[in-house]
Amino acid sequence: MPPDLNNQYILITGAGRGLGQHLARHLASCGAVVGVADIDAATTHTTVDELRASGLQAYAYVGDVSEQAVFLRMADEFARIGGRIDAIVNNAMLLHYCPIEQVEDERLTVMLNVGIKAVFWSAQALLKHYDKSRGASIINMSSPVAHRGYPNTSAYSAVKGAITTLTKVLGAELGPKGIRVNAVSPASVPTPGALGLNSKEVYEKRAATIPLRRIGTEQDNSNAIAFLLSSEASFVNGEIFNVDGGASSAG
Ligand SMILES: NC(=O)c1ccc[n+]([C@@H]2O[C@H](COP(=O)([O-])OP(=O)(O)OC[C@H]3O[C@@H](n4cnc5c(N)ncnc54)[C@H](O)[C@@H]3O)[C@@H](O)[C@H]2O)c1
Repeated sequence: MPPDLNNQYILITGAGRGLGQHLARHLASCGAVVGVADIDAATTHTTVDELRASGLQAYAYVGDVSEQAVFLRMADEFARIGGRIDAIVNNAMLLHYCPIEQVEDERLTVMLNVGIKAVFWSAQALLKHYDKSRGASIINMSSPVAHRGYPNTSAYSAVKGAITTLTKVLGAELGPKGIRVNAVSPASVPTPGALGLNSKEVYEKRAATIPLRRIGTEQDNSNAIAFLLSSEASFVNGEIFNVDGGASSAG
């Protein structure tokens, strides 16, 4: 049975497509009221329209979550709906791999800003809008690249490494205030963004190297996040939750 997230107000960044979009549908199906935040206006509105057409509760927020003022404005608007925010999922990212000599200042800045700065703004937004008597939760998106050295992933891995550390720091800092901070580390889900990094064939071949002999799905990721957001995970904090079929723990 999926976790009961009834009456939880959850803001999801980068929810216009890929893992974030699937997550928005899944959490809303578990009873949550979801805020769909994305820099892409078209996919944001399409996602919200589709969720509403299915009878689910969703609201659209278009903007760049790396900008503090934008993030906090979105959170202010979302908080007006239910009077609070119960959770924020920091999912937005620009997925890009290249050799170190091809790293460009402009793109590196965007990647660092979207991946890392947004985590800071999410904590500030939640501190402003959470209900102290209920507690709250932040979920960050880590990655296997944060734990091992994969060539040609320097910018992306730097972001995911920072996110992994921030998850532990904020888990320790915000835990006493009743805010749990966790991360999931999914692997090999061929989303639109991930297919810009590796071809479909690469993902299919990768299945043979994963102990469970398949690649991950959006549903695997959404299930793990729904659990971490639920009351069943009420003592889980500062955790990096691998959702990778055992790939990162295998020898
Ligand atoms: N797909 C995988 O296998 C995988 C594995 C590990 C981690 N992740 C992480 O999961 C998250 C989602 O990845 P995905 O594969 O769905 O990628 P995706 O590229 O398909 O989706 C990313 C979404 O983020 C949005 N976005 C980008 N910059 C933004 C900004 N500045 N403000 C607001 N929205 C912005 C994009 O418009 C897009 O809708 C990312 O953090 C990614 O690093 C993915």
